[in-house]
Amino acid sequence: MKGEETGQLGATPAEPPGIISLRGVTKSFGSHTVLDDVSFDVPRGRITTILGPSGTGKSVLLKNIIGLLQPDAGQIWVDGEPIVGMRSGELYRIRKKFGVLFQDGALFGSMDLYDNIAFPLREHTHKSEREIRQLVLMNAELVGLLDHLKKLPGEVSGGMKKRAGLARAMVTEPEIVLFDEPDSGLDPVRVAYLDELVLTAQRETSATFFIITHNITSVMRVADYLGVLFRSKLVAFGSKTQMRSSANPVISQFLAGRPNGPIGMDEMADSEDAVAGAAPTLEPGEA
Ligand SMILES: Nc1ncnc2c1ncn2[C@@H]1O[C@H](COP(=O)(O)OP(=O)(O)O)[C@@H](O)[C@H]1O
Ligand SMILES: [Mg+2]
Repeated sequence: MKGEETGQLGATPAEPPGIISLRGVTKSFGSHTVLDDVSFDVPRGRITTILGPSGTGKSVLLKNIIGLLQPDAGQIWVDGEPIVGMRSGELYRIRKKFGVLFQDGALFGSMDLYDNIAFPLREHTHKSEREIRQLVLMNAELVGLLDHLKKLPGEVSGGMKKRAGLARAMVTEPEIVLFDEPDSGLDPVRVAYLDELVLTAQRETSATFFIITHNITSVMRVADYLGVLFRSKLVAFGSKTQMRSSANPVISQFLAGRPNGPIGMDEMADSEDAVAGAAPTLEPGEA
């Protein structure tokens, strides 16, 4: 592993310190290397975000972490256990540590919000309907959906679908909640509201939140730690404060949303909405 040779990471410990830790993770599709030697540690019980333009491999990274894809090289630890090369039965056990909010919310269109939120409990646990009801109502209340549980996904706004997706991701009380571009398809006001909810939900549950996104404004609002993925490399990873004062031109251009710098215009175009959102805070009435 490169980090070991350079001493950059020190000797790789048997059990790296993150609740999720990556060392030298590399993933290619044919000749296209999507992730190149990616290493970082996600601190337990905090909000970590990975920021990157569209097509940089954020979803691929997430799929490697939940074991839906296997890296070509490197190792990933989840809660201290190496998952690369793990048998599928073992992976299934590891996956129970995660709640996932997918990009499109991935709700079942034929089920009302109550049944959508209850689904992972009915599918993966032996809880009674009474226990399930308690957990569904608790999480629905947390995301402000108590009055809408009888509605079908097709009958509610995009923001409500995301909130239902968040309640479903948290209903099994997972140690880690993963988010794949939770803001996609939402206007800036709803994104701001969702960010508030993410902060509240993390505080309430003390779970580790791991969010991949291209929305810089959102990252600045919610992240304790952040990494920037750019041209298949993790350019930097650190606390929000460390990243804000970074001298790395890619980091400063990306965080400032500037068109001039190492990131090309076409790559920046992906984060146009985030750049627009970087303007002074939009008041709810203005949208
Ligand atoms: N299963 C796959 N087979 C081949 N190429 C893929 C596959 N999944 C993703 N890719 C490619 O990997 C790159 C990164 O994709 P993705 O992780 O979805 O980007 P992001 O989520 O950052 O927008 C893209 O070029 C995409 O076409
Ligand atoms: Mg994606």
